[in-house]
Amino acid sequence: MLEIIKNSPFWSPFSWIYRKSGLKSKVYSRSLKPPVQTITTQSLIYLINRSNKKIRQEKYVDIKPDVAFDAGPMPPEDIAALTMILCHIDFNTIFEFGTNWGYTTASLALNSPTAAQIWTLDICKEMYQDSYLQEDKELAEMVLNQTQTGWAYKQTSEVHKVRQIFQDSLKFNWDTNGLPEAFDFILVDACHKYDFVKNDTIKACNRLKSGGLLLWHDYYYDVSAWTDVFKYVNEFAKIHPRVYHLAGTHLAAWIKP
Ligand SMILES: C[S@@+](CC[C@H](N)C(=O)[O-])C[C@H]1O[C@@H](n2cnc3c(N)ncnc32)[C@H](O)[C@@H]1O
Repeated sequence: MLEIIKNSPFWSPFSWIYRKSGLKSKVYSRSLKPPVQTITTQSLIYLINRSNKKIRQEKYVDIKPDVAFDAGPMPPEDIAALTMILCHIDFNTIFEFGTNWGYTTASLALNSPTAAQIWTLDICKEMYQDSYLQEDKELAEMVLNQTQTGWAYKQTSEVHKVRQIFQDSLKFNWDTNGLPEAFDFILVDACHKYDFVKNDTIKACNRLKSGGLLLWHDYYYDVSAWTDVFKYVNEFAKIHPRVYHLAGTHLAAWIKP
């Protein structure tokens, strides 16, 4: 039926109005609404902890390196949700895929228990030939040099909690790094291409404790960015219950059964 309408002479002007009026993008973005349930950050905390009691005062990072930067750190609403979670739940073993400037690592360090241990993984420019980086524009924009990587957490009083790993997440092997057997909390925020998100998620699942939390960043459900994260997380949610989108953020969450 749709094909007949599309082939008729009336379709062209109708199609033009449909696109120009903004109706098409509305319909399209509605069809992309998260298929997983959207819940508040407070509800997620309650599902994990069976309590909404705050145990730490939130701490935020307000420092900037000397050089200009744009891509990388999470937007404030996502940092606020993450910080709220950290101040309500004691995560003692934390792993982050994707350090970048280390702003989120700094939030993890400042808002976790005194005895918490944090591992954060990234690659750096020194690991690649210039010609390789020139072929991958997205990577070239994102990857930093070794001293820039993790710059923000190194400025905090809690730097001793953090261990930096420089390795490609595709090649990363938990067993070779002397890491704990299992983690309380893992954040997936490295390369946003489908195969990488899938790889990092599968690795995270294998090392997450029962009842532990997995967060994906850049779960954007409009067509503006990182559609592979949205696609993979939705696929994951089809076979794993307890995947949620956090309201007002670009974070998706999974509580491991
Ligand atoms: C969006 S940034 C991370 C932002 C950081 N989590 C934050 O909130 O500040 C993505 C990072 O993933 C890193 N990355 C890209 N491909 C990677 C790979 N194959 N293995 C490890 N890290 C990778 C990039 O170098 C970049 O620093």
